[in-house]
Amino acid sequence: MSIGIIGAGNIGSAFARALARNGISATIANSRGPETLAELTAELAPHIMAGTIEEAAGADIVLIAVPWSKLPAALSGLPDWAGRIVIDANNAIEAPLFKPAELGGRLSSEIVAGLVPGARLVKAFNHLLANLVSADPKAEGGNRVLFYSGDDQQAKAEVGALITRLGFAGIDLGPLATGGSLTQFPGGPLPAINFVKFG
Ligand SMILES: NC(=O)c1ccc[n+]([C@@H]2O[C@H](COP(=O)([O-])OP(=O)(O)OC[C@H]3O[C@@H](n4cnc5c(N)ncnc54)[C@H](OP(=O)(O)O)[C@@H]3O)[C@@H](O)[C@H]2O)c1
Repeated sequence: MSIGIIGAGNIGSAFARALARNGISATIANSRGPETLAELTAELAPHIMAGTIEEAAGADIVLIAVPWSKLPAALSGLPDWAGRIVIDANNAIEAPLFKPAELGGRLSSEIVAGLVPGARLVKAFNHLLANLVSADPKAEGGNRVLFYSGDDQQAKAEVGALITRLGFAGIDLGPLATGGSLTQFPGGPLPAINFVKFG
């Protein structure tokens, strides 16, 4: 099960750190090219390698964490996703203005799904601040909660298993229409709350 990461900023690198801590390999990519990621890959060697966007996108599971307005450019020109799993960690708002993007009443993940034709999309890793994604998920005597949702049961099970491997308490919020709405930021009630599950 190969893992790719598109976007190597706050969330992409936090996810990479969580993987590396658990001995899981991945290929990470940004807009400027693999050579600009030398510091991160030196820190996370031997597990995290830098690659092109095409290389990262070719993995079995691909986490996408790119500023909202840059997503179309980041994802254009890639081959069909052919059933591979995309983890949508994105939110429809970005620095420095933090003005919510106009979604025309759609969920942000529905719009992301339109940018990755043929992918099985699971929304996850979008509702916690990056420092809580990279931190030890053992917290307050329990395990930090990561919510996930999606319409493909098998894809969701694989992402749920990865979340468990990383030490988080994964909670399946159901289909995208339900979970995508609950974890949508801004707008949903769950983002930015540090939930911990006991037992
Ligand atoms: N920050 C958080 O705590 C947080 C939490 C949850 C969710 N999110 C979501 O995660 C996403 C990323 O946020 P972030 O804070 O990680 O952003 P960030 O720190 O600004 O990093 C953005 C990354 O995207 C890459 N990128 C930009 N344009 C690209 C393109 N055309 N092709 C490929 N890569 C491109 C950048 O590469 P270059 O530097 O080479 O341009 C950079 O590695 C956003 O949708 C955000 O809403 C963020």
